Amino acid sequence: MVQPMAEESRSAGVFASAACFWVRRPLEDPGLALNLARLKAVPPAAGSRAEAEARAGSRSRRVSRILVVDDEPHVRTMIGSALERQGYDVQLASSGHEGLEILERNAFDLVLTDIVMQDGNGITLLERIHGQQPQLPVVMVTAIHDISVAIDSMRRGAYDYLLKPFEREHLVNTVQRALAHRQALQDSHNYQQNLEQVVRARTEMLRQAMENLEHSYDVTLEALGDALDLKDSETEGHSKRVTAYTIALARAMGIGPAQIKVIARGAFLHDIGKMAIPDEILRKPGTLTPGEQDVMREHCARGYNMLRKIPFLAESAEIVYAHQEHYDGSGYPNGSSGAEIPVGARIFAVADTLDAITSDRPYRKSRSFDAAREEILRCSGTQFDPTVVEVFLKVPNELWLELRSEITGQNKRFSTFDIAPASNT
Ligand SMILES: [Fe+2]
Repeated sequence: MVQPMAEESRSAGVFASAACFWVRRPLEDPGLALNLARLKAVPPAAGSRAEAEARAGSRSRRVSRILVVDDEPHVRTMIGSALERQGYDVQLASSGHEGLEILERNAFDLVLTDIVMQDGNGITLLERIHGQQPQLPVVMVTAIHDISVAIDSMRRGAYDYLLKPFEREHLVNTVQRALAHRQALQDSHNYQQNLEQVVRARTEMLRQAMENLEHSYDVTLEALGDALDLKDSETEGHSKRVTAYTIALARAMGIGPAQIKVIARGAFLHDIGKMAIPDEILRKPGTLTPGEQDVMREHCARGYNMLRKIPFLAESAEIVYAHQEHYDGSGYPNGSSGAEIPVGARIFAVADTLDAITSDRPYRKSRSFDAAREEILRCSGTQFDPTVVEVFLKVPNELWLELRSEITGQNKRFSTFDIAPASNT
């Protein structure tokens, strides 16, 4: 609340006269106004500038808080009284220091400050405000001999300036424009924030939808795996175990989550092509004839052809195709070697042998994980990629045992792809 002061009677020093308060501001000189307009950028959001200002002025007159900083009591009181009569909530400060203290404790919509004050100049106050609250407009109040300083203050972030003595009408108009400017900045800021919130919400919805889709994919894949297990009972549980081993090895090799997902799907579906192999060959208890072996070997290409046209499995299909290749080129179907074989297939080859050796077969009993390590080490550089073998040998047997018991223990309830990192996309 501004206290009326005896100094108001000395208003002639600030106001041009009691009836017609203050003289026309130099800002209305067309040339100067043009230059200053270049320093400010306050485009109205919509409609004419006058309409925007009228709306903002109407809104802000009821609630806007204005801080007036001036070391001359009669000046700050006159300005404060004039603004209070317009319905603004005005607070006065007698120095830049006091102004800063008040600003730290209270929120304002506008600051009017004198430039030359006894305890330091208003430019310092302006810079502090501009640094801490860049959206808070500052109007500089100054005497005519400060014109160059006033212009400099505009370059430093002041919204406008009032040149003493000035008319009350110009004070009110300047304040209304500054508050409209403040409102436009706030509207823009709010719009930006709302937009960011909408984008964040939509992104989350999309992520959720993708996650649901991924889950649907995995449920479908598990159904395919179960179907294969029914057809090829000898390998029941093999697909899940070999997938778990492949994922663990891929992680140990430092492969990223997205690629692990591709590799895991390839490992899980590696024998899906056996769906197309006749039962009399697939389930034949004895040794296969060379002709039957050829048919059996077709399962790589058949699996590849089943999966390659499915977009989310196209990359995994490459692993299915190459899962029987050997590092030295002695495998099938292409006899590819070394880096020609996808890294996922090279990792899978080790995991597949690990599970084959440590699982019962109708024609032999399972062997220990130590025995599997020895066999895999023996075939390093021939059947297996030595780099993969090196990483494999660093993984303790306990991990493989743990994964195996986890899958066997939960049997059908085990979700194969839950063991892949949750963040993969
Ligand atoms: Fe196979």
